[in-house]
Amino acid sequence: MTRDQLKVLVVGGGGREHALAWGLAQSPRIEHIYVAPGNAGTQWPAAEGRATTTTVAITTDDIPGMLSFARNNAIDLTVVGPEMPLVHGIVDTFQLAGLPVFGPSKVVSQLEGSKAFAKDFMQQHGIPTAEYATFTDYEAARQYLIEKGRNVAPNPYPVVVKADGLAAGKGVIVCANAAEGVTALHNIMVERLFGAAGDCVVLEERLSGPEVSVLAFCDGVHAVALPPARDYKRAFDGDHGPNTGGMGAYAPVAEVDDALLHQIEQTILQPTIAALAAQGTPYVGVLYAGIMLTSNGPKVLEFNCRFGDPEAQAVIPLLDNLLDVILACVEGHLTPELVQVRPGVCATVVLASAGYPGSYSTGEVLSGLEQVPADVMVFHAGTALQGRDVVTSGGRVLAVSGYGNDLNEALRCAYAAVDCIAFRGMHFRRDIGQNLK
Ligand code: AMP
Ligand code: GLY
Repeated sequence: MTRDQLKVLVVGGGGREHALAWGLAQSPRIEHIYVAPGNAGTQWPAAEGRATTTTVAITTDDIPGMLSFARNNAIDLTVVGPEMPLVHGIVDTFQLAGLPVFGPSKVVSQLEGSKAFAKDFMQQHGIPTAEYATFTDYEAARQYLIEKGRNVAPNPYPVVVKADGLAAGKGVIVCANAAEGVTALHNIMVERLFGAAGDCVVLEERLSGPEVSVLAFCDGVHAVALPPARDYKRAFDGDHGPNTGGMGAYAPVAEVDDALLHQIEQTILQPTIAALAAQGTPYVGVLYAGIMLTSNGPKVLEFNCRFGDPEAQAVIPLLDNLLDVILACVEGHLTPELVQVRPGVCATVVLASAGYPGSYSTGEVLSGLEQVPADVMVFHAGTALQGRDVVTSGGRVLAVSGYGNDLNEALRCAYAAVDCIAFRGMHFRRDIGQNLK
């Protein structure tokens, strides 16, 4: 990157992308940030003392549209937020056109795009994960489950049924026994609840233990882990209700001490990056390992090929030099020393529309945003501008991130800000940061 002042395009329109734009804007090297399609939060005048940020009306599935925008506006760097354009090859398209882009290629994004691919990869390279079997035939899968249930009697064979393809975070069904597994299998393969994503399924041994999200910056050769984060996936307090995209998060997670993080780097992150490089498909971007801390050590539940949402809103505020790190990944000179992490804790509370993750109404006016203390970050997700009003336009509306010396202080900060904000039907969890089990 030769220019001193950079124009950056952030692809996506959620809280994660607002956090990415916010993090990038901390750098004095940023001239302008465009966020496509962005939201009401991604429009900042330079008067705020940061780089100007504007929203561009291009949807994330419009890869040619993104490319021509980047060309026509002399974009120096494109940062991709969501998985869908990555799995559809946005990075390959930009690279072919000679444009710098941060994110993994289509082929390695299969680590998220296909659970069967990810499991086979892990098995082949000795990366710890649950035992599994993959099926494209319903009857064969059903027989397998019945057999498993019988063999391990009286153990009911707790199993996890996973649709192979992308299913907006809903394609994983955790079952208490083989019979429930057969029902889930039927829903996915016969009823086709997730469409073509369920043409293939992974049946996986059910593990137990606390969960943690470990995200790492990768430059193709090196992986540098970020502060471990915890995501609160269920809709309601006490971890009740349906799974959502994530109702809150915090980082770092104290129970992942240096020794455990080192183990995760050595047994999961580094071997993954090394194996991909060795097969000629280096991984550049953020690699997200969803990990269960089992009594037999950390095991991978899933890989994602991007920042988590809302993990990004809790982790990015802890990073001092996001732009420098992203450029080092793209240019292939990432070192652990480069990733400067602030001490302290960041906690994020998601404010959602009534009904989310089911159906919800939009167009509700948000109030109180201007009352939020200046040191709290309010990342917008499903918001839009309507005249002078900010209105809801999605299920997850805002992610409110508080920073403190410790978890309690971060939570106090975040919840004090949440109490300033209102919109009709607003719901959120009061127990972010608490132990789940
Ligand atoms: P995934 O989308 O693969 O992360 O799965 C969603 C959630 O399902 C995870 O956060 C876990 O809570 C749960 N899960 C996935 N795989 C397993 C497993 N093998 N054992 C127990 N729980 C799992
Ligand atoms: N918060 C989970 C995810 O982004 O996949």
